[in-house]
Order: sequence, then structure tokens, then C-alpha cells
Amino acid sequence: MKIAMLGSGFIARFYADSLHAQRRKDHIHLVYSPTEANAERFAADYGLAHFTSDMRTAIDHPDTEVVLIALPNHRHLEAVLACAAAKKPVLCTKPLGRNAQEAKEMLAAVERAGVFGGYLEDLCYTPKFLKALKSVQEGSLGRILWTKSREAHPGPHSDWFWDKEKSGGGAIIDLGCHCVEIGRNFIGKDIKPIEVMCWADTQVHPIDAEDHAIGLVRYANGAIGQFEVSWTFRGGMDLRDEVMGTEGTVWLNSFLRTGFEMFTTGKAGGYVAEKAESDAGWLFPVGDEAHELGYPHMFTDMFDSLENGSEPLETFYDGYVVNAILDAALLSAKSKKWEPVLLDIWRGKEGDVQTSGFIEYDENHYLIKREILPNGDHKLILKHKSTGKVSQTVTQR
Ligand SMILES: NC(=O)c1ccc[n+]([C@@H]2O[C@H](COP(=O)([O-])OP(=O)(O)OC[C@H]3O[C@@H](n4cnc5c(N)ncnc54)[C@H](O)[C@@H]3O)[C@@H](O)[C@H]2O)c1
Repeated sequence: MKIAMLGSGFIARFYADSLHAQRRKDHIHLVYSPTEANAERFAADYGLAHFTSDMRTAIDHPDTEVVLIALPNHRHLEAVLACAAAKKPVLCTKPLGRNAQEAKEMLAAVERAGVFGGYLEDLCYTPKFLKALKSVQEGSLGRILWTKSREAHPGPHSDWFWDKEKSGGGAIIDLGCHCVEIGRNFIGKDIKPIEVMCWADTQVHPIDAEDHAIGLVRYANGAIGQFEVSWTFRGGMDLRDEVMGTEGTVWLNSFLRTGFEMFTTGKAGGYVAEKAESDAGWLFPVGDEAHELGYPHMFTDMFDSLENGSEPLETFYDGYVVNAILDAALLSAKSKKWEPVLLDIWRGKEGDVQTSGFIEYDENHYLIKREILPNGDHKLILKHKSTGKVSQTVTQR
């Protein structure tokens, strides 16, 4: 398919590198940037036929079959509305909106126009994430009780991120969108997020928004999705996820520890990996950054879905739910209370879907714990179903 790229900055280049790599068949034919010189440079770097400083020209171009939005957050809504008006399929980077209201307008616009709306949440497409998710969905971890997703780095690379009006917030909107959607996938996208408790502060940078936050999202089945986001972290980009279930555990480290460690005195210098803070000493480069960050799998899913008329794994609806959760997080950081997640549109399970995880031992008892002690004895701890009495038996080795 022929793609119009809106934006010529950091993420537009990651997307272009991924789309034009390794003989892929979907290519960018045109780039828009408000600064013509930037559009021209991008077009030259990627061998594109056209560049423009007018967004509508890019979207309406007769050869444009799909539009890819890689613009700052405050321009997503305007760009999506223009794509819907032109009836062109649209893929939008994260976060979908600066808040749930904007995301809802974008969702409504694409659905009304009957056009494809793909949400480019790359971290839900990393090879490690996809494999972990499959294990979770097959039941390897049992009932999911808690997930933790962390994204932390020393802060973003352009002025507009640090301007609350343009970005919609600080680390919560910028990084929390990834972490929340990772947790939602593991817990189950059909399980309703109910409420959020969040601490946030501006600890380091002279900005109006928060540069550090930790939050808990409580879901209707009792599961908790924890997120940790920071623009104050030193030492590179820390991307880690944990999943805890009744039958198992997953730990993922997607960036700082990919199995590639290198020492250099700094003789050559230069780029090491996204947000790396040093190019000397012990370094943690990343073999294929685009791949580790999920871009190729993400575009494969998006373009396959477009071709087949199916839904991608991440849609505008998902982007809207994420924005609603983040709105509640921002409110909670102010009120210091649990704040409800307000979802005018909810397409998953309704009502209380709590399930008991008690393990039957026999007719009268639940099993609390079995353990082999250091001396080899076997211990069994049970709870009587009607009296509630907890008892233990020890079988000597
Ligand atoms: N992992 C990810 O998915 C990921 C990573 C980084 C950024 N992003 C998202 O991509 C979008 C763009 O971020 P970026 O890092 O490429 O930013 P950037 O500042 O590097 O580039 C933004 C580009 O948008 C264009 N632009 C149009 N209107 C503009 C305006 N008013 N001010 C500034 N630039 C304008 C310019 O071409 C500019 O190069 C954001 O929504 C951001 O959240 C996603």
C-alpha cells in the first residue's frame, strides 16, 4: 500500500526504517511536515516521490491509500478528522488523544466514516510481549492477579512533550499509555478497568506536568495493573514488564538487557540505543531496535488487517480505553483518592466478574500451602471449609 507519513521527526523515522526495511511491500510515497525543509530532507533520506508542508495535500493525494500519523499529540485529533473526511484508512501513534474526550471524537469519526483506525501501540507487539501474551492466553500462568509495566528514561527529545498543553501531560500520558495497555492485554481486554490510584510528582524538571508517577489500575475481576513511569530515570531506557498468575510468572526486560553487553573506551562514540546516556564504558546496545520495540510486528498486523478487512490487535477503541484510564490516573494524582475510570463506550464484559481461586483439597478442606522444608519434611497447610480452622500436618522425610 502507498502511505502518506504525517510528521518527519523521531517516530516518523523509526516507522520509515521499519516499513522500508527487509523488502517489505508497503511503502511511504509522501511526507508532510509543517517545515518544508524537514519534509524535503525526510523525502530525500527515504527516496520518497513527494513532500509537502500542507497536511490536507498529503491526505487527499490520489495515490495515498493509508495515512500514518506521527505528529505531536495536540495534532492527532485534527489529522484523524481530516483522514475520516477523506475516507482514508488511518494509523495513529500513541497516545491516541491528549485525553479520553479527544480519543472518543477520533473513534467516533473513523467509525462514522467507516474507515480503518489502527492504534500504533508498538510495545504490545514486541517479540517478547507477543510470546508472553500467548502463554498467558493459553493459561500457562493461570488466573492473572497482578501485572507491572515500567517505562522510565531521562525525558523526551522535543520541546512540545514538555509543554502540558501540547502533550496533554507528562510521563503519565507519554509513557503510561504503553504501560496501561500492556497490563490490559495481560489481564484481558474484555475485563473492565474500574478505578485508578496514582501518585505523581514533578521531582526534577521545571515543567507544569508530572515527571514521575506510579499507579494502580483495579479491574472488575480483582486483578491489578501497576504502572511505573518516569522522565527522571538515569541510565538509558528501562522497559520491563512482570506478570503474576496463580500458576506462573513472567518477567520481561525489553531494552537495557537484551543479552548484548559491550565495553568501549569511547574511541568511536555516537549513537548506541534510544535514550542511552553514554557512549563509553559498559554499554547495553540493542541488536535490532525497531524489532525489539515491536514496529515490524505492529505494521504486519496493521497492513494484514487492512488487506483482510479484519481488526488489528490494537484499535482506536483500545486507544480510547487507555486514555480514559490515564484521565482517572491524573485525577487521582490530584485528589489522592481512587478515581473511577469513566467509559461512555465499553465493549467488554459487564458486571462483577470476580472469580474465587480457592483450591479444593478434599470435601471438607481448601489447600492453603504445600512445602518441602530444608530438612526434607513435607508440610501441608489446610483450611476447614465450615469452621474456618487452619491446621497443618508434617510428614517426616
Ligand atoms: N514508541 C512510540 O510509539 C513513540 C515513540 C516516540 C514518539 N511517539 C509519538 O509520536 C508522535 C510524534 O513524536 P516524535 O517523537 O516523533 O516528535 P518529534 O518532535 O521528533 O517530531 C514531530 C514531528 O511532527 C511534525 N509537526 C507537525 N506539527 C508540529 C508542531 N506543531 N510542532 C512540532 N512538530 C510538528 C514535524 O514534522 C516534527 O518533525 C507523538 O504523538 C509521540 O507520542 C511514539
